[in-house]
Amino acid sequence: MVEQIRVQGPSAGIKGELMIPGDKSISHRAVLLGALTEGTVEISGFLPGADCLSSVSCLRQMGVEIEETGPGALKVHGRGWQGLKEPSDVLDVGNSGTTMRLLLGILAGTDFFSVLTGDASIRRRPMGRVTEPLQKMGAQIQGRSQGKLAPLAIQGGKLVGCQHLSAVASAQVKSALLLAGLRAEGKTEVQEPAVSRDHTERMLRTFGVEIGQEGNRLWVEGGQKLQAVPVQVPGDISSAAFWLVAASIIPNSSLYLKQVGVNPTRTGILDVLQAMGARIQLMNYRRFGDEPVADLLVESAELQGVEIGGELIPRLIDEIPVLALAAAVARGRTIIRDAAELRVKESDRLAAISRELSKLGATIEEMPDGLIIEGGAKLEGARVESYHDHRMAMTLLIAGLVAHGTTTVSGCEAIPVSYPDFVSSLQRLGANLD
Ligand code: S3P
Repeated sequence: MVEQIRVQGPSAGIKGELMIPGDKSISHRAVLLGALTEGTVEISGFLPGADCLSSVSCLRQMGVEIEETGPGALKVHGRGWQGLKEPSDVLDVGNSGTTMRLLLGILAGTDFFSVLTGDASIRRRPMGRVTEPLQKMGAQIQGRSQGKLAPLAIQGGKLVGCQHLSAVASAQVKSALLLAGLRAEGKTEVQEPAVSRDHTERMLRTFGVEIGQEGNRLWVEGGQKLQAVPVQVPGDISSAAFWLVAASIIPNSSLYLKQVGVNPTRTGILDVLQAMGARIQLMNYRRFGDEPVADLLVESAELQGVEIGGELIPRLIDEIPVLALAAAVARGRTIIRDAAELRVKESDRLAAISRELSKLGATIEEMPDGLIIEGGAKLEGARVESYHDHRMAMTLLIAGLVAHGTTTVSGCEAIPVSYPDFVSSLQRLGANLD
């Protein structure tokens, strides 16, 4: 993927049908959990994004055989925890926080030593939220900043269950602890301040694991085995979000987005765009295993500002960059609160959004935990920067479709982290790119 892309705007409208690529979170879980079964897990609709491929390559380094049998089709030959092998080299997770945090939970329950590292962004991201509770369970973990920053070295071993109250609503923390809990003696309990995405719980249950749950509190008993069951991965609503916003804010647009995962822990973006006045219809509601799926029809609409915060935030955390773009061109003011987590994503997204959308003419004030966006901006092309953050790069390319003149987005090499076909889809929809 080229580093820099120029877009000529404004677009006269985007129309068509798009198959939304596989969900990144579910693709990670399908290979990671598949490796822990003692059978063969057939996966369809797997996202071949760089992040998910990091999970695949780390598992291969641990002796797990993963076959590619077609586009998006994988066969994971599970080995159970006992069959995993000590990797002979450092495990490189690239840009993938999910790979690092979920693998830590898995590695804690092995009997070998491993070292995990990743790119510059990963090495800045907080890992203490996972390593501290894992240490409490008995894992030996060392790393920079007292084991809070990668590279991290972990010696797996005997674990004991723990009760953990997470300070943040994080599916990665919750998942790491539930996975380690399956290898721990006794019960492992994790409570979070608000519900984060629940794909791990759903897939574990499909794989035959019993999980207790009361509101935001979940627990597992150690010693449970995972059974191999095929996984059909739905399309990623976080990828669909770029098209939902693009078609809403570009006049004369209509897009039909096929096969989008609509798990309620992920659909905050639909709720908020609809509250802003977006015209989005859900059709052909169905299930892929334990995950709900629908096709989405989105048409241009006049949007209005909203105020969002609290428990809604984890349900749309990854969509806030593109939602901020919608807010910038909507009528009236939008206030986003309780979103300090965005500062520790692939980039500091609160800073990146306000800085880069402002360069295009948006009026955005950054708060410690959110943004105040004055709507009604008439965007003008400019040079903007993604900070090597895939979701920032895609947001800025969509902004370039709306802006008058030329928008030059640098840092586009990050896009294949979650959406390898994004730029070709943009071109197919008639975007003027070079
Ligand atoms: C993810 C969880 C979220 C999300 C990330 C993917 C996952 O992160 O932002 O893109 O697959 O579990 P946190 O768990 O840190 O909230």
